[in-house]
Amino acid sequence: MVADIKADCSADKKGRDKVVLAYSGGLDTSVAIHWLQDKYNVDVIAIALNLGQPPSSDDIVARALRNGAIKADFIDVRDEFVDEYVWPSLKANALYQNVYPLSTAIGRPLIAKKLVEIAQQEGAKYIAHGCTGKGNDQVRFDVGIVTQDPDLQVIAPMREWHTTREEEIDYAKQHGIEIIVKKETPYSRDENLWGASCECGILEDPWAEPPKDAWENTVDPLDAPDKPTYVEIGFEKGVPVSLDGVKMSGVELINKLDKVAGENGVGRIDHVEDRLVGIKSREIYECPAAVTLIAAHRAIEGLTMPKDVIEFKRGIEQKYSQIVYDGLWFGGLREPLDAFIDSTQEYVTGTVRMKLYKGQAIVVGRKSPNSLYDEGLSTYASGDSFDHTSAVGFIYVWGLPGRTVTKARAEKK
Ligand code: ARG
Repeated sequence: MVADIKADCSADKKGRDKVVLAYSGGLDTSVAIHWLQDKYNVDVIAIALNLGQPPSSDDIVARALRNGAIKADFIDVRDEFVDEYVWPSLKANALYQNVYPLSTAIGRPLIAKKLVEIAQQEGAKYIAHGCTGKGNDQVRFDVGIVTQDPDLQVIAPMREWHTTREEEIDYAKQHGIEIIVKKETPYSRDENLWGASCECGILEDPWAEPPKDAWENTVDPLDAPDKPTYVEIGFEKGVPVSLDGVKMSGVELINKLDKVAGENGVGRIDHVEDRLVGIKSREIYECPAAVTLIAAHRAIEGLTMPKDVIEFKRGIEQKYSQIVYDGLWFGGLREPLDAFIDSTQEYVTGTVRMKLYKGQAIVVGRKSPNSLYDEGLSTYASGDSFDHTSAVGFIYVWGLPGRTVTKARAEKK
């Protein structure tokens, strides 16, 4: 079906094929509009998606059209991003290698999905993205795209065309491409509402402490307020629904929490990670809301979830994180894992009180209508309802295998 549509309209009046470009308005993807037309003789449809990254200083859609795109659009996908990608990963407490909340990685499948949808609507033959040939993101896009539509072909100009920033600026001048040349920084940044990633420059030395200018969205914990800020996060079935008792959308909740946690220096991560392409790399992350919410979510799970479910789920969480990192969102395993995780969240409802203080998000209280905590059982004070004599029989049975082994071996000596 999809293939038929493509056959009908993959070429416009001039007989050119179309490419849907993942466009950010930055230098790489601005020059890519021209480069794609030139090198592949294709018409370019430039698509920018709003996943909560900082807004651009100009109208990037108008600029894409001035730079030669036949169509351009900027689509707000923040709600879909939160509901379909961020919340499932939060329910999975997803942290790659136990530290990175996957903020860049979790945005990629949504971008791939939108590009494929638009390519199919427009009858485009190609999708293009601005990734280089060394990172994880090229894999996430390429694999995500062809898994959804094996007929589409992916072009990655920055992987094919080995240029420097200066050469790109020259290319833009030569061809009259309008670009916004930002102040040069030594870093490569990627940002969405779940967090910011920053690499390159001095950060490539894993021994060097990240300099002050590498952090943009968080206050240095040393400069953070001397008084803690408390926030109460309300969860329903594993999903955050309120902040300090006020119900709000996921996008609003993340934005508000990101600000207050960032002001308290929460969410800085310094990670030497193992890339999918086999390289160890050093990257720093700023994820104030993600770090706070994962800690809070674990706390409400700890209160409401049976011990064996918690323990079993830890292994699933690791697998889930790996799938997201490795670009296998559209592979066969993520959906059944989501089904399992969703079923564990049925009773994960309640409120967690967090203390944000000088770089830390500390759980200081939790309550739930589904709490499994029984004060009568756990107290050491009066009102204790636990039958201490039953512990003796339990310990006899629990220690039985160990005693048996030791005795049997002692008799052999
Ligand atoms: N290492 C992270 C990941 O693979 C982030 C990659 C993008 N980072 C960047 N600074 N552009 O998910």
